[in-house]
Amino acid sequence: MKTVETIAELQAEIRAARAEGKRIGFVPTMGNLHEGHMILVDQASEECDYVVASIFINPLQFNDIDDLGRYPRTLAADQEHLRDRDCDLLFFPSVDEMYPHGQEAQTTVSVPVVSEGLCGDSRPGHFDGVATVVSKLFHMVQPDAAFFGEKDFQQLAVIRKMVGDLNLPFDVVGVPTCREENGLAMSSRNNYLTAEEKDNAGNIYRVLNEIRNKIENGAKDFAELCVLAKQELVTHGFQPDYIEVREANTLKPATEDDTDLVVLAAAILGKARLIDNLRVNLSK
Ligand code: PAJ
Repeated sequence: MKTVETIAELQAEIRAARAEGKRIGFVPTMGNLHEGHMILVDQASEECDYVVASIFINPLQFNDIDDLGRYPRTLAADQEHLRDRDCDLLFFPSVDEMYPHGQEAQTTVSVPVVSEGLCGDSRPGHFDGVATVVSKLFHMVQPDAAFFGEKDFQQLAVIRKMVGDLNLPFDVVGVPTCREENGLAMSSRNNYLTAEEKDNAGNIYRVLNEIRNKIENGAKDFAELCVLAKQELVTHGFQPDYIEVREANTLKPATEDDTDLVVLAAAILGKARLIDNLRVNLSK
């Protein structure tokens, strides 16, 4: 696996792969790679002939400067993981390479409606930062398919909407969430938890499952289910940000008639803000 730091080198490598008729798969990340990232690389290898990953801690999507400063940077270990999983090319640009005229002067991409509410409320500007950097990366790589985790469900919805609205000519593939044994969704931010907090953090997945079971058994008062679940998280020492039931394709608040639902949660535990979600399909 080759690591390149400039857009010119990235594009030269991809041009050569494409000239050989290879289908290009792309996995954008911010590094500190764990198994949740690796399953995206595996899926890309399965569907494509040449896999490009990127590691870029994108300052534009951090609304908290301390969060940006402490975000884990583990390049050597990340390169090893990617090599093990047959990644072909790693793009590891600097902030200057990505934003040569400064972040304030950068043209931005904003995806309305799906970026609003949920994490969009608690992290103002976050999804504009994500949409902007991902659209830049898409233009640099010009993949045949791009791979994103369902763990970041709202982010995936934002990317799908952007790719549709801007008529970008490739597939966006959503990959199911990779979890620890206790159900905790794997995340770079889990590093901020103590061992005890990690055990406790499995409660998020547990309450999401409880809500799913109740909805599958006919519960329709989604707001009440979410209030109860939040109270339960509080008793376990969490500071819940939101728990909401939404229509899974539009992310609009769920109505009684919707059959494809998603329950989304965000909560602070210790030094980490954790997010998770669970699909509920009532059409089966
Ligand atoms: P990052 O948090 O590094 O995540 C990179 C990709 O890995 C995202 O698509 C995310 O949904 C996926 N991922 C993370 N944990 C996962 C898990 N437990 N199971 C399945 N997939 C998982 O998300 C970002 O970076 C950034 O916002 C980015 C899209 C790279 C733009 O900067």
